[in-house]
Amino acid sequence: MTTGELLVALFEAYRNQDDNAFMNVGMTLVKEEKEKNHYVLSNKLRKILLSSDERMEKTYTNRLNRTFDLPKDKDNGTDLLKVIYPRKTFDDLIISNEIKKQLDSIIKEYDKKEMLKAYGMVPKRKLLFCGPPGCGKTLCAEVVANTLDLPILYTCFDSLISSYLGETASNIRKVFDYASKNNWILFFDEFDAVGKSRDNIDETSELKRVVNSFLQILDGFECDSLIIAATNHEKSIDTALWRRFDEIILFDLPNCNQIKKFIKHKLRAFEVDNLNIEYFAKKLKDCSYADIERVCIASIKRCIMNGNEPINDKIFGEYVAKELKRAELIRKIGE
Ligand SMILES: Nc1ncnc2c1ncn2[C@@H]1O[C@H](COP(=O)(O)OP(=O)(O)O)[C@@H](O)[C@H]1O
Ligand SMILES: [Mg+2]
Repeated sequence: MTTGELLVALFEAYRNQDDNAFMNVGMTLVKEEKEKNHYVLSNKLRKILLSSDERMEKTYTNRLNRTFDLPKDKDNGTDLLKVIYPRKTFDDLIISNEIKKQLDSIIKEYDKKEMLKAYGMVPKRKLLFCGPPGCGKTLCAEVVANTLDLPILYTCFDSLISSYLGETASNIRKVFDYASKNNWILFFDEFDAVGKSRDNIDETSELKRVVNSFLQILDGFECDSLIIAATNHEKSIDTALWRRFDEIILFDLPNCNQIKKFIKHKLRAFEVDNLNIEYFAKKLKDCSYADIERVCIASIKRCIMNGNEPINDKIFGEYVAKELKRAELIRKIGE
């Protein structure tokens, strides 16, 4: 359909109060803009259309032609997976040029997977995100999912490890089986729970079995979903596991420039004329984005509750000091 025809269809859907038709035409427009590489506009339109979880779920379930009947743990009946509808975009993410390049190439290959397949090639599909907590591994998975317009199937390894011997491998299989039925981002969080070195003498044979079955299933997993595993403890990951991934992305604590950019972004809707961001960025070195976000949110709350008072050095400084104290305490507990 031409853009003109789409607009006519959109207006007709409005006149007929046909919500489904409106959504379909809207999503076609979103797709067309994306195909023209207008990512920002396409994401903006998509965000407006899918502004609630119910809408998101409806759209995805309609498109996938099924409801999300998630697999459960046999022992305690809990869901092994949850579905996350991605909303974050590259605008929300601060990353190095190097990581941006890696992500762009993954997104491009995935987007052009049919073209690659015609030449007998497959896109990169198995990614490992490593680095300290609060530096954007989960956020990045969400941004990639949003850009590729895929829902996320999220699982935390803790929830896969069953109290019953043997059930864990079966849980992992259930997760992969479920994922194989559609295209998703299959996200394994806290992957280190299973990825610990198989040479470690303290390890139980159960954990070894889990690692082996995970490796086997990962190797044999041949569908169009993107698999992302994330870990805060890359050093404890066995080399056999590293080799299984097509791309490894190393996240790090933000540098001074990134901290400044992050603070400015978080406080963009508030008056900060009397805030020395440069000074505080230096103070906050060694903190993660999540730590710095806590400082920003505390300052924003205070500003709102005091009738939109500007965020100045005194207010921000108070929360920076609090955050540094907290970090010190956590360090001490960890020693
Ligand atoms: N690189 C980043 N750019 C922007 N915000 C970030 C970044 N990393 C973390 N954050 C903020 O911190 C929160 C927690 O980050 P998350 O992605 O869950 O960290 P991780 O998965 O590495 O532990 C995010 O929701 C986001 O608000
Ligand atoms: Mg995370």
